[in-house]
Parts: sequence; C-alpha cells; structure tokens
Amino acid sequence: MSAPVSDHPTIDNAVLSARGLTRAFPHPDGPLPVLRGVDLDVAPGELVTVSGRSGSGKSALFALLCGFDKPDTGTVTVCGTVLRAAPAWSDCAVLPQALGLAAELTLQENAALPLRLTGQSDVEDRVADVLGELGIGHLGDRYPTEVSYGQQQRAALARAAVARPSVLLADEPTAHLDHGSVPAVLGVLRRVADAGTAVLIATHHDQVHRIADRRLSLVEGRIDYSAT
Ligand SMILES: Nc1ncnc2c1ncn2[C@@H]1O[C@H](COP(=O)(O)OP(=O)(O)O)[C@@H](O)[C@H]1O
Ligand SMILES: [Mg+2]
Repeated sequence: MSAPVSDHPTIDNAVLSARGLTRAFPHPDGPLPVLRGVDLDVAPGELVTVSGRSGSGKSALFALLCGFDKPDTGTVTVCGTVLRAAPAWSDCAVLPQALGLAAELTLQENAALPLRLTGQSDVEDRVADVLGELGIGHLGDRYPTEVSYGQQQRAALARAAVARPSVLLADEPTAHLDHGSVPAVLGVLRRVADAGTAVLIATHHDQVHRIADRRLSLVEGRIDYSAT
C-alpha cells in the first residue's frame, strides 16, 4: 500500500518542521493514537496558531516539537537539526501549558534563568523590560505562589520571550488571563515574531487567531490543511 500523499505545504526556510509525527498513549482499551501523522513547517518571523478541540492533542504535539517527549514515528527538525533531545533554549523556548516555573525562584529569577545558564549579558535589564511589557514588572520579587495563575503564566512567557529564540512555542498562552492582560501578551508574541522568531501557539481564543499570519487546526491527529 502506498503512503498517502501529504497536502502539507512545505516552506523552504522553515526553522521548525515536523514530518509524519505519530504518538499513541497507553489506555485501558489499548493504545490511544492521539497524533496520526502531523506535518508542519514554520518560517522565521511567522506567527502560526493551532486550534483543536480539548483533548485533540495540541499539548502532546507541542511536547514533541520541543523535545520534552519523543514521537513513535516521524521527525522534528529545529534550526536544521533533527531533534534527539530537548534543543537549546535559544533555539526553541517554550511556554508549556503547565508553566513549569521553579517555586523557589522569584518571577524575575525564573524569567532570567535561561539567560543566566548561558552566561548572557544585560540579563536584569532584558528581563525587567519584558516583565514590564507584560504588566508584571512590579511583581518581579514575588514567588510564583504569591501571584495569580495568570501572572505566573505571563512570567513563563517572559522566560521564553527574553531568550530571543529561533522558535517559540506557546501552549494556550491566554488561557488563565483576565481580559485586560490579553493585549499585552499578544503584543509580546507578535513583537517576538516580528523580530524574526518562528512563533507557534496552541489556542482556542479568537483574539489570538486574529494576530496570526496562518491559522491551522488539529483534526483527528493531523493538521487539516484543507481549509488553509
Ligand atoms: N502523557 C500522557 N499519557 C497518557 N495520555 C496522554 C498523555 N498526554 C496526553 N494524553 C492524552 O492525549 C489526548 C490529547 O491530550 P492533549 O494533548 O493534552 O490535548 P489538548 O492539549 O489538545 O487539549 C488526551 O486524550 C490525553 O488524555
Ligand atoms: Mg493542551
């Protein structure tokens, strides 16, 4: 039997590519195939959104794209290198749905951590600028448990944005925000893309789709290109 022809439009200068990603998870009734052959390209400077109903596999896909998890079959390429482990944060930075802030570090320290680990300069100024842009500049000395979940989410976005990565993955970046802070978050994501980062966002919020260059949807384990 021949392989199905992919209707996926390839992008020559993509910095993030997925080919044929499959992933099944254990289930009492037998393995549950969540991703069934995801093909995806994102170019530098593009902001692309991925929608899909709850449980469609958006977070599972993002975990593969950033090397947190491994596909059963298929490949992920970031900055020209096929992933075998999580890439450097400067290549691919992530705002995970579960945030992953260190409880023992302040918001400022959390956001600065990737820059400190790679010995970069101007760390405090760069972090302060992004925290301020996200409306949480006054909370830099607080610990994650001392602020709201939406404020934690913005700190986790700051940690990703401040790294000026080649690829930024944001999983439901507006899910826990009050209405008033959504524009600041969208402003940072758009600014990061305009500066040359390939930004991929999982979301079901129309406001986020509106700032996208391309809108994709995950349907039955594949990206549905028929509507694009
Ligand atoms: N690590 C895992 N182990 C078992 N099942 C998982 C795991 N991760 C995701 N799943 C299952 O995969 C499906 C997709 O989950 P998820 O990627 O979180 O969806 P979405 O982010 O689109 O809401 C769900 O049925 C979920 O229960
Ligand atoms: Mg999810």
